[in-house]
Amino acid sequence: MTEETIGKILYTEDEIRARAAELGKQITQDYKGEELIILGTLKGAVMWMCDLIKNINLDTKIDFISASSYGSGTTSTGIVKVSKDVDFDLYKKNVLIVEDIIDTGFTLNYLKKYLQDRRPKSVKICTMLDKPSRRRVDLTAEYIGFVVDDLFIIGYGLDFDQKYRNLPYISYLEPSVVPEE
Ligand code: IMP
Ligand code: MG
Repeated sequence: MTEETIGKILYTEDEIRARAAELGKQITQDYKGEELIILGTLKGAVMWMCDLIKNINLDTKIDFISASSYGSGTTSTGIVKVSKDVDFDLYKKNVLIVEDIIDTGFTLNYLKKYLQDRRPKSVKICTMLDKPSRRRVDLTAEYIGFVVDDLFIIGYGLDFDQKYRNLPYISYLEPSVVPEE
């Protein structure tokens, strides 16, 4: 494979943090007086989760869940495996899933149903990025940081082959280096 070329900066750290602050305030208002369990998805959502939760002023518990959809290359297949589950009882609780990016929607569609089996009071989604042009299932997040075009996004937690998660901004790989699906 050729050397990967990183594209332009789509969102800077300041822009991402400002958006996390806006959504955090909105979430605080929407769940006023309620308890909220915030579940970050490993590993991609970690940076966004940190920015977001500092702006949520509620009675909260946080945890992480790791779900990966089988598939090679850069797209998911719909077959999802949970490798780290939630440590808390979710019965009658408000659950907010914090995700890095929604692409086909397969992963979160599965995860939402998986969590709903525990009969929580509610399950909602806060995603840093949404790529609606690629959606394969009917899934919408209640809270969306930014809508992005059909590019392979890297940085701010998002990886290509486990690399680039540490970039302090959101960028993309030049389409010529992204493997075919
Ligand atoms: P899904 O296609 O919505 O199931 O997306 C599954 C997961 O694939 C996301 O949570 C990301 O971790 C990863 N993913 C999807 N699109 C991108 C991308 O553009 N860059 C990096 N990871 C991605
Ligand atoms: Mg993810």
